[in-house]
Amino acid sequence: MKIREIYNLAIQMGIEADFRDKEGVEGFLERKRKKYEKMEDKEKEEFDQEALENPYLDTRVYHIAGDKEVKKVLAGIDIGPAEILMTKEIKGIDLTIAHHPLGRGLTHLADVMDLQCDVLNFYGVPINIAEGLMKERIDEVARGVNSKNHQRTVDAAKLLKINLMNIHTPSDNLAAHFLKELIEKEKPERISDLMSLLKEVPEYREAMKVGAGPKIFVGDPDRRCGKIALTEITGGAEGSPKLYEKMAQAGIGTIIGMHVSEEHKKEAEAANINAVIAGHISSDSLGMNLFLDELEKKGIEIIPCSGLIRISRAEK
Ligand SMILES: [Fe+2]
Repeated sequence: MKIREIYNLAIQMGIEADFRDKEGVEGFLERKRKKYEKMEDKEKEEFDQEALENPYLDTRVYHIAGDKEVKKVLAGIDIGPAEILMTKEIKGIDLTIAHHPLGRGLTHLADVMDLQCDVLNFYGVPINIAEGLMKERIDEVARGVNSKNHQRTVDAAKLLKINLMNIHTPSDNLAAHFLKELIEKEKPERISDLMSLLKEVPEYREAMKVGAGPKIFVGDPDRRCGKIALTEITGGAEGSPKLYEKMAQAGIGTIIGMHVSEEHKKEAEAANINAVIAGHISSDSLGMNLFLDELEKKGIEIIPCSGLIRISRAEK
């Protein structure tokens, strides 16, 4: 596989696992295309053309130094200049894949958060409330990433002639989809049952060994889960803390997240919503693994780094 083929596969798998379904994702792109058509020439020049085809602007190819057949990949959760140097050192790596966005992917992180409105709506929160409360938070995230040194790692890749890309929301979609299916199949009754179920997932089992396994942030093991929602696994960054009250009104009893801020925790507590935190890097690993398995099936060797807990589910 070439780099562009790997990238296209990631986008395609992300769409297949998306809460919005294919039509929903297509509608999201269609609205952008219509807006683009109405733009003045000057505006069109400034517009990120990739937005017309890629529904996940936090997922990009940053640098292609040599467009060859990819046989060996270095994959990690956070790729920085250190990992770019490692790529050079390990020898034979054809492509470095990060999970968290870099460069243009990072500046556009807030763009994917629109997905959260649809996820919340999927679980019964009226779309007007989800959109209203998310708008404020999306703007906040957009301002937050503005100050970062976006091109640092990309510059390192260019200097050392390393092929570099990242897969963020498509991978998080795969993790959310995996957990949703698991929960719908096993139907845990109490929080303790949900915890046992999560602890059977190999990535979480591995994370437990270093003290980063699933944890109950709000609620206790004896409580019943009620309706379990995967509202905080995918969609770029943490949503609005004001949403918990609305989630409770929509009938959600428990949320499974990757991580939760203190403010979010307090709001969940006040709304009597149980919050089970599956783990950040382990959940990121789960999503990446589901994608990397597809590369492995095509004969590509995967070298994990930077926190990636590599578990292969690919039948060889
Ligand atoms: Fe993450």
